[in-house]
Amino acid sequence: MSYHHIPVMLNEVMQGLDPQSGQFFVDGTLGGAGYTTNLSQAVGEKGKVLAIDLDDSAIKNAQKIIKERGIKNITLVQDNFRNLEKIVHQNFNQFQVNGIVLDLGLSSAQVDEAERGFSFLKTAPLSLAFAKNETEDAAYLVNNLSAKELTDVIARYGEDRFAFRIANAIVSARQEKPIRTTTELAEIVVAAVPGQFRRAKIHPATKTFQALRLAVNRELESLELVLPQAVRLLAPGGRLAIVSFHSLEDRIVKHFFKDQIKTCVCPPETLICNCHHQPVVKLITKKAIIPTAAEIKNNPRSRSAKLRIIEKLK
Ligand SMILES: C[S@@+](CC[C@H](N)C(=O)[O-])C[C@H]1O[C@@H](n2cnc3c(N)ncnc32)[C@H](O)[C@@H]1O
Repeated sequence: MSYHHIPVMLNEVMQGLDPQSGQFFVDGTLGGAGYTTNLSQAVGEKGKVLAIDLDDSAIKNAQKIIKERGIKNITLVQDNFRNLEKIVHQNFNQFQVNGIVLDLGLSSAQVDEAERGFSFLKTAPLSLAFAKNETEDAAYLVNNLSAKELTDVIARYGEDRFAFRIANAIVSARQEKPIRTTTELAEIVVAAVPGQFRRAKIHPATKTFQALRLAVNRELESLELVLPQAVRLLAPGGRLAIVSFHSLEDRIVKHFFKDQIKTCVCPPETLICNCHHQPVVKLITKKAIIPTAAEIKNNPRSRSAKLRIIEKLK
């Protein structure tokens, strides 16, 4: 199957990272290799791009592109970007990079590949995992977590006000038989929400599926773990660009960036600063960059994207 993904805000990301010939970049979320191949061209044969993805479909697709185009400066690593420093140190005898990009979440290819279970509109095993060998997938969670744990997951990661009702409906349904497929779960969620919300513009199962996906892949935890590593790895003048797709991710990025530029990190009750904290980065984007109307029209999946960039001080 061909791997399809339109890179989101490609021009804005490339302008923001400003890659130069001979430099070294890391793409922590290879996906359809849109950013990776553009970075590879910009840094040229003396430069390097290290591209990471958990999903072997993304890696295989990129291997094919690299072979077809005879590209020499891209290294592919199938791993979790939460291990960023280790991956960079192991693959290159190098401790500083000129830029890092993370384009969070899913690629269109993953959504379109029905058997991955990312879409509840097609019947498929309930996986929702980026890495195909994940054992604690969504089916595991819905069939094993307690009602309280499921409520917490759906409320926290899906911000769904019907979390309690949905969690209890899941627990009673699984007493009849285990929940195995995407559409079985979607039907349980639809039946659990009050009647007037069943035909809402946004499908009632959307938030539950987002919540389970975030939980299965521990996505927010990975993001929290990678951010300080990325700042440590950046060379002076190097940039970190992050594209996020929902408010939970964007909040983490925004707060992390704000904390990084603070000149004082003393506890709030301290009257006179004694931390002498020196920021090591500056904000390149004061406000998040969002896609243009033309991009959203051409690629509706870009509509919720937000791009934030910081630069390591020289
Ligand atoms: C939105 S796509 C990236 C698209 C890419 N920028 C492009 O231009 O084609 C996100 C990719 O990140 C991968 N991914 C998500 N979380 C990851 C993680 N923690 N570690 C490694 N890869 C991850 C997904 O498997 C997916 O392929």
